[in-house]
Amino acid sequence: MFAKIAGTGSALPERVVDNFEIARNVDTSDEWIQSRTGVRTRHIAGEETAVSLAIDASKEAIKDAGISPEEIDLVIVSTVSAEQLLPCLACEVQAAVGADNAAAFDVNAACTGFITAYQIAVGQMKAGLAKTALIIGTECLSNIVDWTDRGTCILFGDGAGAAVLKADTTCETEILPMVLHADGRKGGVLTCGSGTGNGKSAYGRYVQMDGKEIYRFAVKEVPMVIKELLSLSGWEAGDVDYFVLHQANRRIIEAIAKRLHLDESRFPMNMMDNGNMSSASIPVLLDSMNKKGMLKPGTRLIIAGFGAGLTWGGTCLTW
Ligand code: COA
Repeated sequence: MFAKIAGTGSALPERVVDNFEIARNVDTSDEWIQSRTGVRTRHIAGEETAVSLAIDASKEAIKDAGISPEEIDLVIVSTVSAEQLLPCLACEVQAAVGADNAAAFDVNAACTGFITAYQIAVGQMKAGLAKTALIIGTECLSNIVDWTDRGTCILFGDGAGAAVLKADTTCETEILPMVLHADGRKGGVLTCGSGTGNGKSAYGRYVQMDGKEIYRFAVKEVPMVIKELLSLSGWEAGDVDYFVLHQANRRIIEAIAKRLHLDESRFPMNMMDNGNMSSASIPVLLDSMNKKGMLKPGTRLIIAGFGAGLTWGGTCLTW
């Protein structure tokens, strides 16, 4: 049994906000933001919502996969920034795309969310419970960012990416290695309260972050997870065409590449144009690579995410 991505899609809000616009509201500069994070612009939702972006990305992925929506038997949405708690976004996507035969639910594993959704879908396939899955990472982080906090508001953006995953039950090759990790003891370094309830949450309404701790965590754990995946798969680093990482910021990715003694050109990046879109970063990047023709049958990828929780993990994938 082998699981393959059969189609991808993405959706970004129309409005583009550059660093100069941010610098009109908080004490920062284009030079500081670009040199510390790599981010030049990000898309910020106006009329769009986490649901509408998820639906647009999903329709594109379904079209790209050339399937009919009725074939989908599982819809999983990863998000931390939806406008609503209920109904779950996956049910809204299911209804909007006409995936009438699908089960649907959301997951929250922050920036590791898309990888988590992918691994749940592959697990369902391996158990014989699903053959075709639609997995989506969608975020309107502008809903949960404090626009007066220069330490966080410079980083994030809104968007959604989707992928259709198909099981090939005729293929004898085993599913490729996947790993997930968590360390809840360090959860306090990246938090956000729900804004609902009566003040019982220990966390504020907006994203709060110890940037230096997150940086240290990512630069330590992501190379280790990549080495873990290489060891489990038997692949050499040289066998991997691209390392598709969560787009938290350029300095983190550069440091990870350096630690692994790998050329940065094998680490595609899109945070320059989109900022950090949490669980949407990886599927939006996969979709742009797909559209550029970078992903051909047999292309080998290692995909890895990391973020709040703390959570991190990755998967080997052959296109
Ligand atoms: N513009 C200008 N100056 C800023 C600033 C901004 N947007 N944000 C912070 N500063 C200032 C600080 O106040 C501090 O000033 P001081 O030296 O006078 O006290 C100085 O810049 C250095 O701040 P520091 O927080 O040490 O910066 P840094 O080099 O650690 O960079 C991050 C901050 C957020 C870019 C960096 O920590 C980072 O990339 N962390 C990872 C965050 C991340 O990826 N989160 C998402 C994970 S999924």
